[in-house]
Amino acid sequence: MKIAVSGKGGVGKTLIAGGLARGFVTRGIKTIAIDADSSPNLGLTLGLTPEQTRKIVPISENKQLVESKTSTGYSGVYNLNFSVDDIVRQYSVPTPLGVNLIVMGTVYSMGAGCMCAPNAVIRALLRYLVVEQNEAVVMDLEAGVEHIGRGTARQVDALLIVADSNLKSLEIAKHIHDLASAAGMNQLFLVGNRVMNDAQKDAIQSFADRNGIALLSFVPFDPKIIEADMLGETPLKNKEIPAVRTIDNICELLLNKPL
Ligand SMILES: Nc1ncnc2c1ncn2[C@@H]1O[C@H](COP(=O)(O)OP(=O)(O)OP(=O)(O)O)[C@@H](O)[C@H]1O
Ligand SMILES: [Mg+2]
Repeated sequence: MKIAVSGKGGVGKTLIAGGLARGFVTRGIKTIAIDADSSPNLGLTLGLTPEQTRKIVPISENKQLVESKTSTGYSGVYNLNFSVDDIVRQYSVPTPLGVNLIVMGTVYSMGAGCMCAPNAVIRALLRYLVVEQNEAVVMDLEAGVEHIGRGTARQVDALLIVADSNLKSLEIAKHIHDLASAAGMNQLFLVGNRVMNDAQKDAIQSFADRNGIALLSFVPFDPKIIEADMLGETPLKNKEIPAVRTIDNICELLLNKPL
């Protein structure tokens, strides 16, 4: 199963992507998390230290890897057909939560004729990454709608769109939903995050209903998450945190869907 997590900046994409990846691992599913944000920090959420996270070289910036994958020996001509399994084997980083992490780096625009080598490697990675029955890929996307336009997210089985009760985040969620829908993606689910009370829940629910967006789950606001983030610890280790438990439960919801 390949899942991507999108939404406005700061709504909780990384927490939810990390929590899902962790949830799949605890269910015995081999899981790769892909950090597709150009300011990557999924590593911290998966339990790496800031130093370890900083040391990871993004795939798109690994000149040697990109060159070895795409070079044809002719200048300006790239090999776009290569296998990607070894990228996962060699360049994914194990994390304390048992998830293997790949940091992708920036995906360049898909504008006409642009087929630069790093972009080719990243797109091939997403397209050809074989996901067997008992494997999962969870991708933490950059904020906003760029990834949908670039087609990065089109390779997934389900796109989660995270929003809170703030109308701005809901409007961006709708924009992402409509773009993804127009691009032919149909497994699109809203996740209402940081919910503090029934009024916020109702605001998210009625926005989803009005705009025909399927709502998957509500994740409660929890100060323990902010506390853990402040200390540079992952909140995901502690299953007693209600928000962490709810995110874990989203794994179950997704596994029970015919994706
Ligand atoms: N359910 C929650 N309860 C409390 N705090 C939360 C919750 N979800 C996320 N947060 C907090 O909100 C902040 C943003 O979360 P996170 O980094 O996951 O968002 P993001 O969408 O990935 O942000 P960015 O767009 O910058 O990548 C963090 O400080 C996190 O601790
Ligand atoms: Mg993030």
